Amino acid sequence: MAHKVAVLPGDGIGPEVTREAVRVLKATGVPIEFEEALVGGCAYDQTGHPLPQATLDLCKSADAVLLGAVGGPKWDRLEPVALRPEVGALLPLRRELGLYANVRPAKTLAPLAKASPLKGKRALLDLVVVRELTGGIYFGSPRERRANGTLAVDTCLYHVYEVERIAEVAFAVAKTRRCEVVSVDKANVLETSRLWRETVDRMTPAHPELRIAHMLVDNCAMQLVRDPRQFDVILTENMFGDILSDEASMLTGSLGLLPSASLGEPRQGRPFGLYEPIHGSAPDIAGQDRANPIAAVLSAAMMLRHTFAESEAAERIERAVERALADGLRTADLAGRDSIGTAAMGEAILARL
Ligand code: IPM
Ligand code: MG
Repeated sequence: MAHKVAVLPGDGIGPEVTREAVRVLKATGVPIEFEEALVGGCAYDQTGHPLPQATLDLCKSADAVLLGAVGGPKWDRLEPVALRPEVGALLPLRRELGLYANVRPAKTLAPLAKASPLKGKRALLDLVVVRELTGGIYFGSPRERRANGTLAVDTCLYHVYEVERIAEVAFAVAKTRRCEVVSVDKANVLETSRLWRETVDRMTPAHPELRIAHMLVDNCAMQLVRDPRQFDVILTENMFGDILSDEASMLTGSLGLLPSASLGEPRQGRPFGLYEPIHGSAPDIAGQDRANPIAAVLSAAMMLRHTFAESEAAERIERAVERALADGLRTADLAGRDSIGTAAMGEAILARL
């Protein structure tokens, strides 16, 4: 039976990059049925809500979700805030689908080492940020966030079970790699971080094959720039992971290259996930055939590997991307002149599958 994938192209460059990802997925021959739905600002424009019920229902009935990007200046000032694409669509989508584990690999592709802001060998990083995605300060806010215009409140809270399940994901990822985990927190200041650290410590003895260490988040931000090769798997909470994954991704040379998976509990025995490029909707270049589709294409490869256990097809895609880059093909984010467009890059990857 064909797998069912919900495709949510979203706003800005989302539709352009997901189009290429879907073309590449089709070309692998893995039997997949695609169904599209609205999400983000475009959904608000057409239905009055950034996450229509029909979209949520489709995602709940699918085996996996492929998302482009949401948001743009047009919707940044919508009131109430709950109608804005990020708060009204992305966060509820994560929460409703139970996607608590965000896996963001940051690996320098050899042909692009020179694009990294780091010099020499330090640019050759290969790490994964495992970010808790449905808890912490993103979700702990009380209903009343503002008082009389002079005070605002956001609350960070974590349950032990939330720390345990994300740590399990990080440990499992580490076991497929170099077996090193750095758990990042701010335990010198925050109570949630102390709970986080105690929980990770309690779990450590059950994983003797792993080397598990702790690091404070400010130090981690510094160490990433000093020498990111020291990291294998970074395990961290929601907001720290948001920040550190952007930092790590830029060290590889371009935000336009990196995929991500947001994983929840298995469905029918298969890991369920939402797959999306880590870049945003880039409204400034939307609709101009200038976006880099590689992050979306690699997100599709992650989907094949994680949800559908099609690691061979996933590797074919990854190799095709590397070959296109090794052959000197570049979108505008990576080359000023002599760049090719979104569709041409998709075509180039297809040709090398
Ligand atoms: C990300 C984004 C989102 C986040 C925003 C758009 C809500 O930055 O996926 O990293 O902070 O989680
Ligand atoms: Mg972010």
